[in-house]
Amino acid sequence: MYTVRKLEAFSATALDSAVRELLAALEAEAQQVSSEAAWKDFRDRWMARKNGILTQVNELWLKAAPGPQKREVGQRVNQLKSKVEQIVEAAQARASGSGTAARLQQERVDVTLPGIRRPLGAEHPVIKTMHEIVQVFRNLGYSIGEGPEIESDYYNFESLNFPPNHPARDTQDTVFIAGQDSKPQRDRLLLRTHTSPVQVRYMEQNPPPIRVVIPGKVHRSDTPDATHYPIFHQVEGLAVDTNITFGDLKGTLDHAMKALFGSAMKTRFFPSFFPFTEPSADVAVTCFVCGGPGCRVCKMSGWIELLGCGMVDPNVFEFVKDKGYDPKKVSGFAFGMGVERVAMAKYGIGDIQLLFSGDVRFLEQFA
Ligand code: DAH
Repeated sequence: MYTVRKLEAFSATALDSAVRELLAALEAEAQQVSSEAAWKDFRDRWMARKNGILTQVNELWLKAAPGPQKREVGQRVNQLKSKVEQIVEAAQARASGSGTAARLQQERVDVTLPGIRRPLGAEHPVIKTMHEIVQVFRNLGYSIGEGPEIESDYYNFESLNFPPNHPARDTQDTVFIAGQDSKPQRDRLLLRTHTSPVQVRYMEQNPPPIRVVIPGKVHRSDTPDATHYPIFHQVEGLAVDTNITFGDLKGTLDHAMKALFGSAMKTRFFPSFFPFTEPSADVAVTCFVCGGPGCRVCKMSGWIELLGCGMVDPNVFEFVKDKGYDPKKVSGFAFGMGVERVAMAKYGIGDIQLLFSGDVRFLEQFA
């Protein structure tokens, strides 16, 4: 690092060499200055009133010069001073980028770069499927109903004709809100285990005839595996009018399955049991993997079970009889399907947990 040295002689040659040495150091240091902060240090090192290099030059060269040479040395030092000022100033321009070339360089725009993409959100495959199912029924003129996820035992079980000791009411299967032992059973709150309670809620609010689909989230006390998850979604359907028959139910669901999965899809109804329908049926559709001959996914049957349905049990109408639902005058059908099951069938998803993992690599395939 350069330091100002005392002059042994004050001859023109001695001064020349000292000045050359100083300017070389100045130029070299100026080259290194690449930031505003570095420039400040550089400026202070050379120009600080107290002990800057110029001040030292003043002390060691000018003041030390013997009388006869003072004039000559004074001129040299003045020239040096303006040279230093000039170079320090130029270094600042370069460091702060205020020089035109530096500015241009800094503000350079590469117009061939791709633009900034803002990733768009998309519907989750479960919600997307739920909307698709709902849309099929909207096209048939159905309304949409909704109900609470925290439900009472009355709507979730009692009004749907579940007997008081039905196994679904067990805490093993249903998530109950804690600390309600002092309440009568029908008032106890739980996380609804299906969307069927909204059937009764909807009939309380709307006189017949009705056609309604009810999408929503439901909860069960299940251990997760490839086909079970404690939270899932259902779309419930309910049609009540005079003279609704099982034929209407079959035709409606067969149409809905073809609309959802394609016109090659066949449906098959076979006997089942639900407390709130009589008779009850389960509906299977052509296996989406093998298309019928039988494979591992359909357990060699060629069919995949997709939903439950049936004719509304007259005992359910009894609970809303005073709202115009006299079981002697009206009849209806109901159905309920698991949205995740439909999504898994539609997209060939083998594990329900993928739908709840939030893994974007999985989800973006459906965007
Ligand atoms: N609630 C039933 C379940 O969660 C599904 C169901 C079956 C709904 C038959 C219905 C029905 O409306 O008629 O398993």
